[in-house]
Amino acid sequence: MWMDLCKGRGGQEGRDKQSLGLKRLVYYILKQFKMIKVMAAFCVLALFGLSNADIHARKLYNLVKEKHSRDSPGYDPWSVLDDTTDEDSPVHIGAQEGLAQLDKILTLPGQPAGVDFDQYSGYVTVDPKAGRALFYYFVESPTDSSTKPLVLWLNGGPGCSSMFGAMGELGPFRINSDAKTLFRNSYAWSNVANMLFLESPAGVGFSYSNTTSDYDHPGDKKTADDAYTFIINWLERFPQYKTHDFYIAGESYAGHYVPQLAYTILRKNKNTKQTVINIKGIAIGNAWIDDETCMKGMYDYWWSHAINSDATHDAIFKYCNFVNDSSTGMCHDSTSKAWDEMGEVNVYNIYAPICLNHEQRNTSATGSIDFFDPCWQDILVSYLNDSAVQEAFHARPTSWDICREYISIWNDSAVSILPIIKYLIDNGQRLWVFRQGGDTDARVPITSSRYAINTLNLLIETAWRPWYLNEEVGGYLEAYKGLLLITVRGAGHSVPSFQPRRALALFTSFLGGIVPHHYKM
Ligand SMILES: *[C@@H]1O[C@H](CO)[C@@H](O)[C@H](O)[C@H]1NC(C)=O
Ligand SMILES: *[C@@H]1O[C@H](CO)[C@@H](O)[C@H](O)[C@H]1NC(C)=O
Ligand SMILES: *[C@@H]1O[C@H](CO)[C@@H](O)[C@H](O)[C@H]1NC(C)=O
Ligand SMILES: *[C@@H]1O[C@H](CO)[C@@H](O)[C@H](O)[C@H]1NC(C)=O
Ligand SMILES: *[C@@H]1O[C@H](CO)[C@@H](O)[C@H](O)[C@H]1NC(C)=O
Repeated sequence: MWMDLCKGRGGQEGRDKQSLGLKRLVYYILKQFKMIKVMAAFCVLALFGLSNADIHARKLYNLVKEKHSRDSPGYDPWSVLDDTTDEDSPVHIGAQEGLAQLDKILTLPGQPAGVDFDQYSGYVTVDPKAGRALFYYFVESPTDSSTKPLVLWLNGGPGCSSMFGAMGELGPFRINSDAKTLFRNSYAWSNVANMLFLESPAGVGFSYSNTTSDYDHPGDKKTADDAYTFIINWLERFPQYKTHDFYIAGESYAGHYVPQLAYTILRKNKNTKQTVINIKGIAIGNAWIDDETCMKGMYDYWWSHAINSDATHDAIFKYCNFVNDSSTGMCHDSTSKAWDEMGEVNVYNIYAPICLNHEQRNTSATGSIDFFDPCWQDILVSYLNDSAVQEAFHARPTSWDICREYISIWNDSAVSILPIIKYLIDNGQRLWVFRQGGDTDARVPITSSRYAINTLNLLIETAWRPWYLNEEVGGYLEAYKGLLLITVRGAGHSVPSFQPRRALALFTSFLGGIVPHHYKM
């Protein structure tokens, strides 16, 4: 997918799609386009899982290119947060009786013995006229599912599947290197919550529409509206969950999806004067929430982690305009230099191994929660693209892939999510911003989150301090009035993949509304 862009840039593009391919792509983009567009693309890129670079690079580049090439700031339906009106058309509610039972998964191919929880998956129609339906995978907690909260998980993209999170980050199973069998993730988030994974918008993963023009102009707004309709209908299908506390969590570009969906829910609750969805809070990981601070934070991080020289860093900040597309050729040159200086590392996790050879995957290896296979994306696609697996998931026969090529046509992507975050805080939502600990992900580094949150000028309630899991520092946190910023030490870009124990500890604390311990246990 990226290869057409990278061809002619050395001719060895097959060697390592993740790292080298990305690097060549970056060079190519830098040569071809104005710097500011490129910088924004990198910020977006930073939001994806380790070794996802090949898939995401071009999409994200396209998104930002499209965004910045518009003369006007573009359509931003979120620019005015007005919760006194509701101009949206009424939400479709279809008959759901009996469908839950049909959605129950008997067993997934390669599933280990002793599965002690129920899992469901299937489609929820969000627009019967268009024939548009979203695919979900729901995992009940093995214990006390009737009292545990309900949590919706979203991966980003835009255009990437939440099955990425379900099978590679926080779901109950991970896939062995044979791509045929599963092993149990003992740190699954379903240990403490009922987890609902949604593939959205239509066209992503197994989600689809019978009206192909639905694929023409997806965007933030439509994604949120369809996700809202999905939840309403899903709760009709599983009415026992209507009264459960409801949370939304996600990472990367879901830094848009999650707050926007939470906002949509709150506004509709207000308009109907009832708690249609019992939302209590959101958690976003390595989230892209603000274009400008994201870019600045990235280059500061590179400089402070010995990736870039003083001179290059200085030049970037001298010549680049992070706000709009008025940067100079000097800016282009200096950011190009910054990438050059970095060398061939994986910017998602600068100290981690990269998938060097896709063909030489060790198919006899048994997966382990403590070892994250750098080539795991191949394994994921191979498993979910298998027809027996699709049948078990009640999915339509689909050429399943992690992401869909959606970016170039993405209709609306807000420049900043901070106004919505402010709104959520003002409306009493629990809001956790979690991150890798700042050591390894150079794409959307911790500096980006800090700069973004600083602009909100929130009152600090708990000053910066470490938090502990067992005997070790799990990360650091700072509690503000209405928002908690918390890091996970030693995690790469997709936190639960690399630090499953710490990620689960963080998630458990989030659900309990308890700031993690500041002492050894
Ligand atoms: C796309 O954006 C335009 C404004 O530029 C808006 O009028 C239209 O409704 C949007 N389309 C979709 C499908 O959201
Ligand atoms: C889409 O079309 C197929 C084939 O006609 C039909 O079986 C399916 O129910 C439709 N999907 C929706 C969501 O209406
Ligand atoms: C771009 O931003 C700079 C300052 O960051 C400002 O001086 C300039 O007027 C802006 N240009 C446009 C077209 O908004
Ligand atoms: C493949 O994995 C198995 C089991 O983990 C291990 O014993 C073997 O040495 C590995 N082979 C290679 C070529 O890495
Ligand atoms: C999925 O499998 C089909 C049939 O084997 C194949 O044509 C398609 O390319 C595969 N899709 C992906 C994303 O690998």
